[in-house]
Amino acid sequence: MSKLPKDFLWGGATAANQTEGGVLEDGRGLSNIDVLPYGEDRPLVAKGLKKMLSWQDGYYYPAKEAIDMYHRYMEDIQLFAEMGFNVYRMSISWTRIFPNGDDEEPNEAGLAFYEKIFKELKKHKIEPLVTIAHFDVPIHLIQEYGGWRSRKLIDFYTRYAKTILNRYQGLVKYWITINEINVLLHQPFVGGGIVFEENENQEEVKYQAAHHQLVASALVTKIAHEIDPENQVGCMLAGGSHYPYSAHPEDYQEAIRRDRENYFFLDVQARGEYPNYALKKFEHDNLNIRMEDGDKDILSASPVDFVTFSYYCSRTVSGRPENMQTTTGNIIPSLKNEYLPSSEWGWQIDPLGLRNSLNQLYDRYQKPLFIVENGLGARDTVLSDGSIDDEYRIDYIREHIKAFKDAVAIDGVDLMGYTVWSAIDLVSASMGQMSKRYGFVHVDRDDQGNGTFERSKKKSFYWYRQVIASNGEELQSENLT
Ligand code: BG6
Repeated sequence: MSKLPKDFLWGGATAANQTEGGVLEDGRGLSNIDVLPYGEDRPLVAKGLKKMLSWQDGYYYPAKEAIDMYHRYMEDIQLFAEMGFNVYRMSISWTRIFPNGDDEEPNEAGLAFYEKIFKELKKHKIEPLVTIAHFDVPIHLIQEYGGWRSRKLIDFYTRYAKTILNRYQGLVKYWITINEINVLLHQPFVGGGIVFEENENQEEVKYQAAHHQLVASALVTKIAHEIDPENQVGCMLAGGSHYPYSAHPEDYQEAIRRDRENYFFLDVQARGEYPNYALKKFEHDNLNIRMEDGDKDILSASPVDFVTFSYYCSRTVSGRPENMQTTTGNIIPSLKNEYLPSSEWGWQIDPLGLRNSLNQLYDRYQKPLFIVENGLGARDTVLSDGSIDDEYRIDYIREHIKAFKDAVAIDGVDLMGYTVWSAIDLVSASMGQMSKRYGFVHVDRDDQGNGTFERSKKKSFYWYRQVIASNGEELQSENLT
């Protein structure tokens, strides 16, 4: 008996800012990630604590060329088709469509570029799953309006979304409004184009920007349904539940608090209203969040159709974290969990945590779920015959597939699909590295920008092809062809 439904969506994910390059080609404008430098200043810029709104001498900017997908899209789609993808998650670069963000008219070259991609995907029977903004804010909107701290961004974003929803009607039906919306709280420049001014209340700025994004996301959900009732719109969370470090009630309380910090966004997007705990937080912390008449109605009128999330690791927290050993994780750090192994980058590997997260999200929202990112960032070695034996990546993905199959078959979670991060090697978001590789396809490019961009298939490429062909039943990695 197959554990997954026949129409389960299998594929891989990428994002424009980490793959395309060609950042000033064919009328495209600059956006926030284009100016995130490689190296030690990157986290400061990402957090909005160091202002860098243009390219500066002495820095290397990996997004400038990324993996040159702008010029190699057709070749890459061919590879995805060969693996048997029936879904491909990608994002549209906002500044290819509206170079400044507040332009009256869209850039036809940008619109035509993605139209070609969607037609090519259709030819291969691959369903696009499109993120409207994946860590993507036009630089001009940051300079002129301060990014998402300004309410004006709601209009610019909805104009952009409406343009692409209209243009790609019939070509795209699955949409995600904003990638990992909770990143706004941790990396406000990446998530919202926010650079802090001296002595301002950073919490207030972040939650104000969050309100604007939430309203914009609801408006776009409404517009998407009006343009085409076939459209399905999802929200997206940097997922991974929080475990209490011990059975101490304060540790458990902290785990609840930190889960809520994440669920806050989904609670609004999936249920259509601000949860009480958030409104109380604004009150207690003296956060003056400006909401306009009508915002409440906008939020409640258009909850999302499905809930998507990324999952790389779980997180462990304590109410008494002093002197405890910490480690990194996707965006949000964690305490060291003695029961879990870690990736080379310190992210704690926890397949059962994926099943736990799926259950939590399904219990909470009762909406179809979609795992839109999951994968292992690792250093790969190209052997003398050109092959890459990435059994560790296969192991990681295999265990996570087993976990979500259990969530579906045993727990009854409604899961639409799974897109591995990433379909192909790309620039890592956190540190701008190429050496932290996630793909099934290797790209010849290093951390300093050297390499030919040549693509080659890893062992995991052949393995994933077999997994997809068997709808997740055939997970062994011996005798692959
Ligand atoms: C998510 C992002 O945070 O995790 C991706 O949506 C990112 O853009 C991925 O690349 C993995 O993180 P990193 O920092 O290892 O690239």
